[in-house]
Amino acid sequence: MSQPSNRVFSGVQPTGNLHLGNYLGAISKFVALQESHECIYCVVDLHAVTVWQDPEKLRSNIREVTAAFLAAGIDPDKHIVFNQSQVAEHAELAWIFNCVARMGWLSRMTQFKEKAGKDRENASVGLFSYPTLMAADILLYRATHVPVGDDQKQHLELTRDIAAKFNNDFSALITKYGHGESYFPMTKPLIEGPATRVMSLRDGSKKMSKSDPSDLSRINLADDADTIAKKIRKAKTDPEPLPDTVDALKSRPEADNLVGIYAALSNSSKADVLAHYGNEPFSVFKPALADLAVEKLAPINAEMRRLISEEEHVDAVLRQGAERARSIATETMKEVKEIIGFLT
Ligand code: AMP
Ligand code: TRP
Repeated sequence: MSQPSNRVFSGVQPTGNLHLGNYLGAISKFVALQESHECIYCVVDLHAVTVWQDPEKLRSNIREVTAAFLAAGIDPDKHIVFNQSQVAEHAELAWIFNCVARMGWLSRMTQFKEKAGKDRENASVGLFSYPTLMAADILLYRATHVPVGDDQKQHLELTRDIAAKFNNDFSALITKYGHGESYFPMTKPLIEGPATRVMSLRDGSKKMSKSDPSDLSRINLADDADTIAKKIRKAKTDPEPLPDTVDALKSRPEADNLVGIYAALSNSSKADVLAHYGNEPFSVFKPALADLAVEKLAPINAEMRRLISEEEHVDAVLRQGAERARSIATETMKEVKEIIGFLT
């Protein structure tokens, strides 16, 4: 199989509470890339079970993420939308990568340290090897570009390290079997724009997260218009009016976050937002932000609800997507097996 030149892959975990950070940092980018790239978008349920998931809840969360993809504007006929556990090759390539990646590399992963917390002895083995599965997701399709939020940067560096070590360890065989100099691409992360790291609405030093116990800390894609407006009204701020330069936002994390959200929702930059709202108090800026957020998110919310009630349709989209993903994945696995010396 020849190496594609512009293939996008990305994934979102079905772990509930999809929020504005997921939308601005990832899903809205997925939508835009459909114009220029061949895209593969995955609901990464194998990643979700690295921490405990209630089985019934997991099933509905898989459908909810799929519904969010479709409601945001991902076209499952032109591109591929599927869930990871339906394509067994993800786990198979992850095993090979477990044997390529080094313990030291994985020990440095900050997401593992954060998620495992103090009780590391009790973390699942899967949580530790999570990044090798992520590398397998991407490299199974030999994807060239991966849109993600800022928190995934380190995992993408590891993906490149794994690809480089595989290419190097097996270089003679890669050439022998006609794959040129290297088999896996050096995947490029796409982490751009004003909202690559959306922060909690209650604490500008913490990332907006699905697992924050305070629902006021995040805007959920499932929130209705009144809830969105209320959460923005209650968002923590400082007493000063907005500054008129982007530089002056640096020491004001809450203001910086809200300006970044406005910029991302309006497809502009923080400088553009400040050109308009600089020197205005939050009593003016917050209602404008709330209106904009409702205008952009309400249609997605309505379509998500509609799709969630059409379970069979969503399941059919995933089945069809899995079939198409599998046809690429089986071919990669066959070549990988040949390269590493398994019988095929
Ligand atoms: P997850 O829910 O962890 O599977 O994340 C799905 C995608 O959303 C990934 O690309 C993350 O980097 C991105 N993401 C998660 N939280 C945020 C955030 N607070 N700001 C920006 N992007 C985020
Ligand atoms: N680890 C990513 C997250 O938590 C989700 C993910 C899994 C992913 N596999 C991926 C993202 C492959 C991009 C590409 O957000």
